Amino acid sequence: MSAWLEEWNSRQDVYLGDRHRDRHYRAVAHDIVRLLPPGARRVLDYGPGDALCAPRIAAACEEVVLCEAAETIRARLSDRFAHHRAIRVISPRQLADLPPASIDLMVVHSVAQYLDPAELDTLLEQARRLLGAGGRLLLGDLVPPEAGLVSDTAELLRFARREGFLREAAPALLRLAFSPYARRRHHLGLTRIDETQMTARARRAGLSGHRIRPNIGNNQARWTFLATPAQTPLRPAR
Ligand SMILES: C[S@@+](CC[C@H](N)C(=O)[O-])C[C@H]1O[C@@H](n2cnc3c(N)ncnc32)[C@H](O)[C@@H]1O
Repeated sequence: MSAWLEEWNSRQDVYLGDRHRDRHYRAVAHDIVRLLPPGARRVLDYGPGDALCAPRIAAACEEVVLCEAAETIRARLSDRFAHHRAIRVISPRQLADLPPASIDLMVVHSVAQYLDPAELDTLLEQARRLLGAGGRLLLGDLVPPEAGLVSDTAELLRFARREGFLREAAPALLRLAFSPYARRRHHLGLTRIDETQMTARARRAGLSGHRIRPNIGNNQARWTFLATPAQTPLRPAR
């Protein structure tokens, strides 16, 4: 298991509190629904975390498949959605069981920064196999080379002010700055990538894509890449 995956498997202390967690998942789900290809039936969310708003996405298509590598998170997801008829929870190994071209939208939001180059390439190849004609890969929250803790903090404070949890944010930010996550981030670093690099990596996997604005979710210091199987023109988002 990679060091970052181990970290996510053992704790998930990146949120300032319940309101931050709730607003974060709401914002991401809102954007995912906005970017569904017309007529989309199946959405695959890779590295969905706690996916608090997966039902919102499921309401806009036929099925949401949550593929989570961290066992502890996956167990929580399996419990939470055990009785939801349109949400399925799987492990990365089970991706191989999904038929080719069976996914209309594959979402990978705020995950790529924890992947090493080989893991990212494997994921892009899996996306290429799983996406149907006109299917989309949405890679959100990519960390550009110039972004860092300062821009992430500024974006978080802006989000807190907009969503009404600024008062709780200041002490929580201080706690976060000294959290195990912050120490891990300092030691392991995040994988950074710009549009030229991402476009080339996607092309090697048989995908054609480009940056879209704004970034999905709430951190505009990061960015989003939208790709389709090569030679499939992008249809307008609804
Ligand atoms: C910041 S959370 C993102 C959760 C959700 N997508 C969101 O937008 O809130 C990071 C996710 O990446 C996953 N992850 C971290 N390292 C990984 C790795 N090496 N391989 C696969 N998944 C990984 C974690 O398990 C977690 O689900």
